[in-house]
Amino acid sequence: MASHEAGWAHAEGALRGPAWLREPADANALLPLLWSSTAHKVDGVLAVGGVALTDLVAEHGSPAYVLDEADFRARARAFRDAFSAYDVYYAGKAFLCTTVARWIAEEGLCLDVCSDSELTVAVRAGVDAGRIGYHGNNKSTRDLERAVALGVGRIVVDSFHEIERLADVVSRRSQARSSTSVKVMIRVTAGVEAHTHEYIATAHEDQKFGFSITSGDAFEAIRRVQSVEGLELLGLHSHIGSQIFDSSGFEVAARRVLALHARVSTELGVTLPEMDLGGGFGIAYTTQDDPSDPAQLATEMSKIVEHECRALDIPQPRLSIEPGRAIVGPAMCTVYEVGTVKQVALDGGAVRTYVSVDGGMSDNIRTALYDADYSATMASRASAAEPVLARVVGKHCEAGDIIVKDEFLPGDIAPGDLLAVPGTGAYCRSMASNYNHALRPPVIAVRDGSSTVIIRRETEADLLATDMGAHA
Ligand code: LLP
Repeated sequence: MASHEAGWAHAEGALRGPAWLREPADANALLPLLWSSTAHKVDGVLAVGGVALTDLVAEHGSPAYVLDEADFRARARAFRDAFSAYDVYYAGKAFLCTTVARWIAEEGLCLDVCSDSELTVAVRAGVDAGRIGYHGNNKSTRDLERAVALGVGRIVVDSFHEIERLADVVSRRSQARSSTSVKVMIRVTAGVEAHTHEYIATAHEDQKFGFSITSGDAFEAIRRVQSVEGLELLGLHSHIGSQIFDSSGFEVAARRVLALHARVSTELGVTLPEMDLGGGFGIAYTTQDDPSDPAQLATEMSKIVEHECRALDIPQPRLSIEPGRAIVGPAMCTVYEVGTVKQVALDGGAVRTYVSVDGGMSDNIRTALYDADYSATMASRASAAEPVLARVVGKHCEAGDIIVKDEFLPGDIAPGDLLAVPGTGAYCRSMASNYNHALRPPVIAVRDGSSTVIIRRETEADLLATDMGAHA
């Protein structure tokens, strides 16, 4: 997660913004690293997947999430090919709908879900249950029964209560004479401090996920799973956090998890066949971020595992990973229409330009929640005006309703202009809300000059459908 040296919430950063932000030579230009591969401008109009966003908005309205299908598929394939000796699970929590689940299956990836409803989407899409991994720190008995009945490929257990629940489910099932064993992984906490926002780091000790290796809980969980007839322990699972750039976190985690894997072999005489190293690979939201490509990641991770297995003198387990953000994040952008522009005088004579758009924290909560940085570009025309330092805000009743804290935009930006924010594929639509009864925007897939609505815009009727007083 980016730091904010200039203190984005304070006036002293207003004129030049945070230290990392450079005034562009041309505020119309796109920085390719931030955009999906087909994004480009023609006379200032942004086109994605061969569709001009001006046309897309004329047809479908704004705001809208725009998903570049070719880019999404290419990123999925790049992971599949770079990690060809691994199983690659797309982490559906980043963004999931039936269309995307089908693309994932078509590109040869497996799918990771973390709720009963995500499982429903996967099943509805026709994903083979055996290629689904099921996460969650509080799965109910009903969740587990359903996953087992569907034949989910692996259930990642996260607590002693869950092991007991699963043991019950399996024993009831065996009384019903069902013989296939249920495949399980154990989520372990490697005790690594990943360099990311506290809320999205998951391998330090003081948090809700996993069994601690240090405390001995992880080893005890392994023993308990092993003792349940009908459960087949595939291996250990470690996920250290999200939006991570530094491979040293993965290295330390892999070392600790492999040490436990080796201990299971020596003390319990069991060679676990698999291991999952989680997701969390960072993407570029602004020029501060310098992500590795899948091939580099694969080389680094494989080297770490090979080295450790050699040192421990154990055979390498079959590995899997779970990228979400790195596949869908850069493949999507959000297009908004500008509604108002306000110059706000700050202490010391500086002025900040507030550009209000027709969405906000209901379609992208990440800025408010994680202090995340984003970028933006004018999408509907070219401008020769001097760039000004602007803040892109939404239309919600909250001062923290900020989408892009600092960006240079053309100084003549005005109501009616379209603005596009790249990198919104992951954890934006999937974390969207109806705050202020906002109608969640559609997701529109674009490819080869045509657009397809894969999630339609919500309507007031959708909101009123659950408001029982409206039907009285
Ligand atoms: N595997 C497990 C077990 C996970 O918990 C996650 C993410 C992933 C894989 C995928 O991580 P990714 O490759 O997408 O970084 N809402 C936050 C991120 C929460 C991540 C939750 N777990 C955000 O907007 O940054």
